[in-house]
Amino acid sequence: MVRARTEAELPPLYAVVHPGLEEIAGEEVERELGGDVKRAGASVVVFRVPEIDRSVLRLKTTEDVFVYAWGTDALSYRAQDLDSIRRWTEKAPWAKLLPLHHGIRPKPKGKPSYRLVVQMTGQHGYRRADAFKALSRGMAGKLPASWRPAEENAAVEVWLTIHGAMAICGLRLSDRTMRHRTYKVEHLPASLRPTVAAAMVRLADLKPGLTVLDPMCGAGTLLAEAMLYAKTHRSAEGEPWPLDVLGGDIDAAHARAAAANLCRLGEMRPLTWDARQLPIDDASVDRVLCNPPFGKQLGSPEEIRPLYRQAAREMDRVLRSGGRAVLIVSDTAALDEAANAVEWKRQRRVNIRVLGQRATIFLYRKP
Ligand SMILES: C[S@@+](CC[C@H](N)C(=O)[O-])C[C@H]1O[C@@H](n2cnc3c(N)ncnc32)[C@H](O)[C@@H]1O
Repeated sequence: MVRARTEAELPPLYAVVHPGLEEIAGEEVERELGGDVKRAGASVVVFRVPEIDRSVLRLKTTEDVFVYAWGTDALSYRAQDLDSIRRWTEKAPWAKLLPLHHGIRPKPKGKPSYRLVVQMTGQHGYRRADAFKALSRGMAGKLPASWRPAEENAAVEVWLTIHGAMAICGLRLSDRTMRHRTYKVEHLPASLRPTVAAAMVRLADLKPGLTVLDPMCGAGTLLAEAMLYAKTHRSAEGEPWPLDVLGGDIDAAHARAAAANLCRLGEMRPLTWDARQLPIDDASVDRVLCNPPFGKQLGSPEEIRPLYRQAAREMDRVLRSGGRAVLIVSDTAALDEAANAVEWKRQRRVNIRVLGQRATIFLYRKP
């Protein structure tokens, strides 16, 4: 761990998130790391923390975390940007940033390898390959000459992310386990991204001792994230939060996939059931987390209206009053209609994009 002498000496960090999750990720940075969010937008959250250590890898709503080298909001979209990218990269304090990186991802034995990555969206008057060349030129002489370029498992990764007029560049502190997790051994086609599920869990505002239900659990991502959340929070006695977790799916193969994904996270056996008729007592659940079929990959648009209506009625029956329901859908009108029918109060609505698809997360409270 590299300790801060003073906070001002430490460079900022930034996280890359799914579009729409910036605010929730910013809240996570503040609450879990005591961080100070400087900006949140365009899929990027820039923040400062009092100490840069491995605790940044505990973030759950972020795809990747970086230590900041340089950034701009003023790309011109013209070829002159390439010269600016090279110059800003040349001027960045790499010699100061590398020890911070090694404090979190120690240098492997032998000759270290490095990798340059450029991500680019928007219509620019140059190609991603040109931006890559500009980044490579800017990095010339900044890493020891003995380091070798590598495509896979590089010890050090320098990323340049360009979204429209915004560009941000830094050293990647996280690896693939931040976005993919380690529990996910079984995948289903319509499975939720763990970072999106984690954002829904944060909106659910879990507390120790609550009962949480996912009535259409698929591969169990929402349940897994709820269990992880409870595991990483401590009671006054230093114990992980107790949480009662219930889940099931109408498809027995999906319930089995969930069981495989959840088995290392705790005691929990997903059941095969119909969410329209749950084997659960009235008013016995505090939080519902649910990702019903969108009517695209699974189900059809005509099927989802009645499904949402009947499932909402059943979720309402088992939910205690004052309880919360967090759902993600793409047909917002169908969910609104179902939620209005059971008189849930809408508390928050978050529009997101995942792999090019639009979806909306809704937080409701049962009066
Ligand atoms: C979008 S997927 C859920 C994906 C899940 N969140 C994950 O991360 O893997 C929707 C799930 O709802 C289930 N489902 C559809 N109708 C159902 C019903 N009436 N009762 C219970 N589950 C149902 C499907 O089998 C599918 O697994």
